[in-house]
Amino acid sequence: MVVIKTSSAAETGMLGEKLGSLLGVGALICLYGGLGAGKTCFAQGVARGLGIEDTVTSPTFTLINEYYDRSRLPFFHMDVYRLDSIAEMEDLGYEEYFYDGGVTLVEWAEKIGELLPEDRLDISIDRTAGEGEDLRQITLLPRGEKFQLLIKELMAVVCPGD
Ligand SMILES: Nc1ncnc2c1ncn2[C@@H]1O[C@H](COP(=O)(O)OP(=O)(O)OP(=O)(O)O)[C@@H](O)[C@H]1O
Ligand SMILES: [Mg+2]
Repeated sequence: MVVIKTSSAAETGMLGEKLGSLLGVGALICLYGGLGAGKTCFAQGVARGLGIEDTVTSPTFTLINEYYDRSRLPFFHMDVYRLDSIAEMEDLGYEEYFYDGGVTLVEWAEKIGELLPEDRLDISIDRTAGEGEDLRQITLLPRGEKFQLLIKELMAVVCPGD
């Protein structure tokens, strides 16, 4: 587990971008954290890191936005906050995304906990009580060997020399 603090939306985006540039086929990123924590901000960074030039907006009402243009890998951006039932995920064909040839990122992943594969990267973004309005604590918890290695690579980029 790795904990990183950011003090602005731009900094959170940068961390997402560095992660995005390291992601490979089939990567699943699960984001947790309350309303306005910074999940979409982080997702926009991931998209930049994947080379996506389109504007990435929150899929709040569509459940999923798919990006293919000019990207290194397809990017599937989900926000399952408004999901009514797990059956809705099945209708969406979620397995096609999780196990297919792209990068999938899920906001509010706790809502679909029972569907999440074991191999994934869990990331919590939390406001830190009593500290600055713009401060966030970002906890990265790799599940499985692939993501453990990825976090090591990410840390080498984020904190070289550590
Ligand atoms: N350190 C920070 N990291 C990320 N966002 C920050 C930070 N400081 C302030 N912010 C602000 O917090 C807000 C985060 O909004 P964002 O849409 O990314 O949250 P979210 O977690 O996706 O919310 P939702 O649950 O509604 O999807 C933005 O207005 C952003 O400018
Ligand atoms: Mg969001």
